[in-house]
Amino acid sequence: ARIAVLISGRGTNLQALIDACADPDYPGEIALVVSNKPKAQGLERAGDAGIKREVVNHKDFETREDFEAALNDALKTSKVDYVCLAGFMRVLTNGFASDWRGRLLNIHPSLLPSFEGLHVHERMIEAGVKIAGCTVHFVSAEVDNGPIIGQAAVPVLPGDDADSLAARILEQEHRLYPACLRLLIEGKARLTGGAVTYDKNVK
Ligand code: GRF
Repeated sequence: ARIAVLISGRGTNLQALIDACADPDYPGEIALVVSNKPKAQGLERAGDAGIKREVVNHKDFETREDFEAALNDALKTSKVDYVCLAGFMRVLTNGFASDWRGRLLNIHPSLLPSFEGLHVHERMIEAGVKIAGCTVHFVSAEVDNGPIIGQAAVPVLPGDDADSLAARILEQEHRLYPACLRLLIEGKARLTGGAVTYDKNVK
């Protein structure tokens, strides 16, 4: 399967997907990396891995729809099957989400539906939660919403601050994202109606 990864920043989840795809047993390849930020560190990661990269800067477009049309052109030109948002900081329209329904994924550093949105780690520390984690989900029009594909949990330890918690969660993100994508590519999980269904042997 051909995968596009959309980023805005440092791109450690992109790196995890690049590393997973480097395994000959992995059923996908990254065909394209798109950043809406020209200086995103993730673009260098793509370059280092010899992956086609493109900047589609939202500031060059008057409307969200025009920005997304350019994004769609890039995705269609590279003939991608799946689009993975990985620290991509633009909200996508309903139209874009429905064009890519069942093939558009996001990763979020909380156990959704708890703690959607921004500054998640600080908010979890403030709330005093004892279990945190991350979620890979299909993207629907609402931010950090949509059918959940997979989750991983980590403990919040006494003495944690936002940074130490973020690091513990990030380690799981890097494992979870390639694993969830693999399930979809191999046809072991799929979007059926409004929820994800799995083959019997999926753990
Ligand atoms: C990750 O924590 C991801 O869950 C969230 O944004 C962060 C991106 O980090 N959506 P990176 O750019 O992949 O390093």
